[in-house]
Amino acid sequence: MIFTLFQFFEVLAVIVFLVGFLEAANNGVARTPPLGWMSWERFRCNTDCVTYPDACINEQLIMQMADHMAADGYKDVGYEYVCIDDCWPLKTRGADGRLVPDPARFPSGMKALADYVHSKGLKLGIYTDFGYMTCGGYPGSEFYLQLDAETFAEWDLDMLKLDACYSFGEDLKYGFPAMEFYLNRTGRQFVFSCDWDWAMNDQANYTHMAEFCNMWRIAHDMEDYWDNVQLVIDVYANNSRNFSAFTGPGAWADADSVIVGLYGLSDDQERAQFGMWAMFASPLLLAADLRSIKNSSKALLLNKNILAINQDPLGIQGTLRMKLGQDKIYVFLKELTGGRTAVALFNSDYHGQPVRATFMLNQLGLTNGNGYSFTDGFTGMARGKYMPATEINIDVNPTGIDIFIATPV
Ligand code: GLA
Repeated sequence: MIFTLFQFFEVLAVIVFLVGFLEAANNGVARTPPLGWMSWERFRCNTDCVTYPDACINEQLIMQMADHMAADGYKDVGYEYVCIDDCWPLKTRGADGRLVPDPARFPSGMKALADYVHSKGLKLGIYTDFGYMTCGGYPGSEFYLQLDAETFAEWDLDMLKLDACYSFGEDLKYGFPAMEFYLNRTGRQFVFSCDWDWAMNDQANYTHMAEFCNMWRIAHDMEDYWDNVQLVIDVYANNSRNFSAFTGPGAWADADSVIVGLYGLSDDQERAQFGMWAMFASPLLLAADLRSIKNSSKALLLNKNILAINQDPLGIQGTLRMKLGQDKIYVFLKELTGGRTAVALFNSDYHGQPVRATFMLNQLGLTNGNGYSFTDGFTGMARGKYMPATEINIDVNPTGIDIFIATPV
């Protein structure tokens, strides 16, 4: 059969489309930032289920989190992925080379656990490492990438976090794309989460990360105290080498776990972390123990107005536009659908006093001649109408946040 030139280009277009479709960042998943729960920050590498039957990494913990995600309203507002982090397998691979879920802690096996999580309308994520060991000392996937990808697909898993401990830095640029290749080869859709190069902000190749990963860590591990949250906010404020330009549907910078509902943050700080992570269009992977979370933290995590900022289909990462109040107030803007803009005023000062932000919308590039109506980012309540040159004064609590949505009138 002889192809016409048009048919040739048509076939070429389909091939180009299919190849593009198979790229991780364009693999059809994570078109908005993934929402879910992840075991690491709260439950770490606790494998002692005798001493800590309710706080060790086992199938019961994962099933209970899935139960609570489905029953307590989390699933209804979009939380979907229940993610097992490090320390789930035996310390040695099986005779066939495969990773073996510790039978004492995962007696039903991973496939049965995935079936259970799926029966709740949720998805199951797992963790491995590109190096020869995971950060917690479990077998890594070096030299086993294909087998591990196939195993995770056979278990019907939906998300993979690939870490980088115990590997050579210069190998990572091959390892992460290779794993993406093998995941795609299975034909199963995975959200591919990369712990790739966060420590190398100055050299990281964001083009590669966006091409091969659905999400990639941009900063250090989240720990349960305020200074750590502030450090991550500063990473986004600095926006080293404009990493915000590489993020969008299918490819997100990951600010790491949401620690709302744990032990370390005040109410204002919880609002600040959740609000800023939403502004960053970061995946929101909760760390709290959903079985015992306090009501105020739960209400915050279920706040549909804040989640809508995070999940806005444009997928634009909010960026710092100016600092006010002697540089204590960071002003971040995130463009939303419908010509709207989310504006966050974050007070980085922790010395115990509200700080006043005084500004005009035209300083933020909001110059619509008819002005803007404001709604509150948290409550969704109307907050009046402002012209571009009207002076606006807003007091922001220490380590607190104010968010409003400006809609052109
Ligand atoms: C690294 C990662 C964490 C977590 C641990 C597990 O520190 O950055 O998110 O996965 O390893 O050991």
